[in-house]
Amino acid sequence: MNGRTIDIAPSILSADFSRLGDEIKAVERGGAAILHVDVMDGHFVPNITVGLPVVKSIAGATKLPIDAHLMISEPGRYAEQFVRAGAKMVSVHVEADAHLHRTLMSIKAAGAQAGVVLNPATPIDSLDEALAFADYVLIMSVNPGFGGQRFIGTSVDKVRRLRQMIDARQLETRIEIDGGIDLENIASVVAAGAEIIVAGSAVFGAADPEAAVRGLREATVQWV
Ligand code: DX5
Ligand code: ZN
Repeated sequence: MNGRTIDIAPSILSADFSRLGDEIKAVERGGAAILHVDVMDGHFVPNITVGLPVVKSIAGATKLPIDAHLMISEPGRYAEQFVRAGAKMVSVHVEADAHLHRTLMSIKAAGAQAGVVLNPATPIDSLDEALAFADYVLIMSVNPGFGGQRFIGTSVDKVRRLRQMIDARQLETRIEIDGGIDLENIASVVAAGAEIIVAGSAVFGAADPEAAVRGLREATVQWV
């Protein structure tokens, strides 16, 4: 699996929101490829974070593509608005959307990449039909809602099985992983087939976020 592009996507959830612009500049210097923004509604997940105005502000302040991870009920009602606010990638949970095909198509029609997210206990079989309509699949390696949780180890095998499913169907779908990623486990998830690596506390919880991103990138160089 050599020659893949491995993208580090810092999650601003663990950033200092009072100086968000500076935090984003730091991860840009460190070589971040994508900026991951966690949108939570206090309903689908037991936490509330940021929404459309924040995505809009950030989009005007960074050249990095914004990846909006919607942890909200009825994401189909809002997904397209996140594209209009400036997100280049928008992902929705299969557990939250009874009309996944329609939502994915609306994201693509609005001009962004469409992603499908699976919670830790949701089987990859649930992607059977949706896989062909998604640009990327996000495997949650913690239960969504909070940063700084412990990585669920079975996620590595889940990524591996998803990689096999994608390769067997000769699709270009990328695999993203999110939750508890750090210097200790990043190599294992990349080896299993993940290409977009979200890291929140491992980046913004570090004394030097720029160096932390660089360190995560260096831990994946053998696959690039
Ligand atoms: C969790 C969020 C994650 C979170 C990751 O619900 O989706 O993106 O910010 O944070 P860490 O890397 O600290 O687990
Ligand atoms: Zn996330």
